[in-house]
Amino acid sequence: MSVQTTVRRLTAPDLRARKGGDPIVMLTSYHAHTAALVDRYCDAILVGDSLGNVMHGFETTVPVTLEMMILQGRAVMRGSKRALVVVDMPFGSYEASPEQAFHAAARILKETQCGAVKLEGGARMAQTISFLAERGVPVMAHIGLTPQSINTLGSFRAQGRDEADAARIENDARAVSAAGAFSVVIEAVAEPLARRITEVISIPTIGIGASAACDGQVLVLEDMLGLSEKVPKFVKRYGNLGPEIEKAIEGYASEVRARVFPGPEHVYRGK
Ligand code: KIV
Repeated sequence: MSVQTTVRRLTAPDLRARKGGDPIVMLTSYHAHTAALVDRYCDAILVGDSLGNVMHGFETTVPVTLEMMILQGRAVMRGSKRALVVVDMPFGSYEASPEQAFHAAARILKETQCGAVKLEGGARMAQTISFLAERGVPVMAHIGLTPQSINTLGSFRAQGRDEADAARIENDARAVSAAGAFSVVIEAVAEPLARRITEVISIPTIGIGASAACDGQVLVLEDMLGLSEKVPKFVKRYGNLGPEIEKAIEGYASEVRARVFPGPEHVYRGK
């Protein structure tokens, strides 16, 4: 007799209901194997378009395509069981109109079977967010520093540094919340602004470089593991895997050069 345990995957409404409750734990993943590890400890997994930087070595996320997001979204869904998987909508796949956004989001949901999409932009994306939410697409918004706008921003520096800019970001937060986003990522804003936004909107705020005043946090997995060469200043490293991996590869290379590698008697041992 086999005992089957069904694990229920968290949904966008589950995350939405966490407002003001236990902090939401979120990390990025782009692969089945890291998704399986992240899934054990996180409420949500972001298949971020940061995969353009991390996996493909692009300087920005602008070159990332819908096909790239769908491919890695499918891998993460295969690797995970419990966490809500959120897939980023890449630059150029949603900004032109609500209809364009719906077609791209529908492809992401159908082809990956993930539970939600994320898109960048505040008040300017509010109409699109309601269009998607009313048609069955759970949307996580992303405000503050929005890396897809790097060509107009000019740099990846912190946002909301003066009163007018802080007011603009607060207005963005209110707009995405009123439009029906189920949560909002706030990137690179100082604690007082993150705290104020978290207090005034009714959906969970998920910070990245936005302080513990938020309802949760997301980080890029490779950044916190010490695998990325360049990381934003606010990233705390929880591991130093880069040098560890290099040590293992160096050991492997020197053993192969010394002809220390197994033949078929090792490969088939015990069979
Ligand atoms: O693409 C990504 O990884 C993100 C996070 C930085 C929030 O959007």
